[in-house]
Amino acid sequence: MSKRIDVSDLNVYYGDFRAVEDVNITIEAKSVTAFIGPSGCGKSTFLRTLNRMHEVIPGARVEGKVLLDGDNLYGDGVDPVTVRSQIGMVFQRPNPFPTMSIRDNVLAGVKLNSRRMPKSDADALVEKSLRGANLWNEVKDRLEKPGSGLSGGQQQRLCIARAIAVSPEVILMDEPCSALDPISTLAIEDLINELKDEYTVVIVTHNMQQAARVSDKTAFFNIAGTGKPGKLIEFADTTTIFNNPSQKSTEDYVSGRFG
Ligand SMILES: Nc1ncnc2c1ncn2[C@@H]1O[C@H](COP(=O)(O)OP(=O)(O)OP(=O)(O)O)[C@@H](O)[C@H]1O
Ligand SMILES: [Mg+2]
Repeated sequence: MSKRIDVSDLNVYYGDFRAVEDVNITIEAKSVTAFIGPSGCGKSTFLRTLNRMHEVIPGARVEGKVLLDGDNLYGDGVDPVTVRSQIGMVFQRPNPFPTMSIRDNVLAGVKLNSRRMPKSDADALVEKSLRGANLWNEVKDRLEKPGSGLSGGQQQRLCIARAIAVSPEVILMDEPCSALDPISTLAIEDLINELKDEYTVVIVTHNMQQAARVSDKTAFFNIAGTGKPGKLIEFADTTTIFNNPSQKSTEDYVSGRFG
């Protein structure tokens, strides 16, 4: 299942510091949305508000609304743990559980959600998730070996398998390729392209070519200076952002004339 996200009037704080100001954006279902912008403009911070991961930091808080197919993730009585299980996240550095087997890594999120299942169902889910992450053929003969024995690119695909094993509504990725070589990066990009048939995908990237290759829509964030909040400057079809942006700062950024 893939759901859309409507963000309105979102402000994001670390204590008194407003890191992200007044974001309004709609992220379409079954599509890839890229977040781009200079370091410190709040891309990761904003991304983490989309699955209520921001507030795990002491003093961190959010004002505004994030609707997932109309339901406010910040509404009264909404359990953040449930939100995090519906909206998966893949981080910059592949973070499989190192001593856990490949198989158990895939099932880790499912077990956390305390869904008990017969072994045959678990086996089927492991295969389906690893196939979904384009990793099955490389690991099918060593499922009981530790996840740490895989290459960086394979580990990242393992983390994606772990994220999709729980059947999330949305997958958030924060620079998922920045620690990977070009071949592994292309494998992840191909995978992202396939994932959007089923999922809503949001990816933060510093790589302009990558944003242009994988995303349907692009959001450009910027910051006026240190201590100032990050802002969403422009959001449009990726081709528009790269070929015909309406803001000068967007054009400067995507063409590399920045700072
Ligand atoms: N845990 C934290 N506590 C306090 N301030 C933080 C914390 N994490 C991030 N910030 C601040 O929030 C602002 C936005 O940071 P964020 O990490 O979201 O930027 P970013 O756009 O993801 O940058 P990068 O491209 O370098 O990853 C920065 O000023 C940063 O210093
Ligand atoms: Mg970041």
